[in-house]
Amino acid sequence: MKEVNIETKLEVYDDISELPADVQKLLASAVEARDNAYSPYSKFNVGAALLLENDEVIIGSNQENASYPSGLCAERTAIYYAGAKYPNTKILKMAISASSQNQITDKPIPPCGACRQSIAEYEIKQDQPIEIFFTGAKGEVVKSESLVNLLPLLFDNSVL
Ligand code: THU
Repeated sequence: MKEVNIETKLEVYDDISELPADVQKLLASAVEARDNAYSPYSKFNVGAALLLENDEVIIGSNQENASYPSGLCAERTAIYYAGAKYPNTKILKMAISASSQNQITDKPIPPCGACRQSIAEYEIKQDQPIEIFFTGAKGEVVKSESLVNLLPLLFDNSVL
C-alpha cells in the first residue's frame, strides 16, 4: 500500500476589483448571463462567460426544465455553444457568477463535477489550460489556472 496525497492550487481574491480589467469585464458578462438564467425551479441563477482567443465572448446560463434532469448548467451551456460555434478556436478563460433568488450568495460557487468533466474535455482537446474564475453575487473570487486543478484524477480519452 502506498498513500497518495494530492495537492491543488487556487488563488483567492477578496474582491473583484483586485483582478485585471479583462477578467472584471468577463465576470460582468457572466453576471449579465446569470441575470437571464431560466431557473424557475431552483431559483438559483448561474452565468458563465468564456473569452476565446479570437477575442469573442461566449455566454451561457443555466436552463432548467419541468423534467429536472433535462436542464443544463451554465458552464456546459456556454462551453458547448463555444464548441459548436468555434470548434477550432481556443478558450482562454471562463468566468462564473452564481446568485440565489432566495438569499445572498456571498461565497464563490465552483462548477459542479459534471461541468468540470466537460470543461476538461475542451482543455485537453486544445492542449492549453483554461483559466477559471468563480464567484457568488458578491465577495471573494477564486481563480484556478487550469481546470485540472479543480478535478484531480479526471477521466480522459487516453484509456479509450
Ligand atoms: N448550476 C449551474 O448552472 N452550474 C453549476 O456548476 C452548479 C449548478 C445550476 C443547475 C441548476 O439549474 C441550479 O444551478 C441549481 O442546481
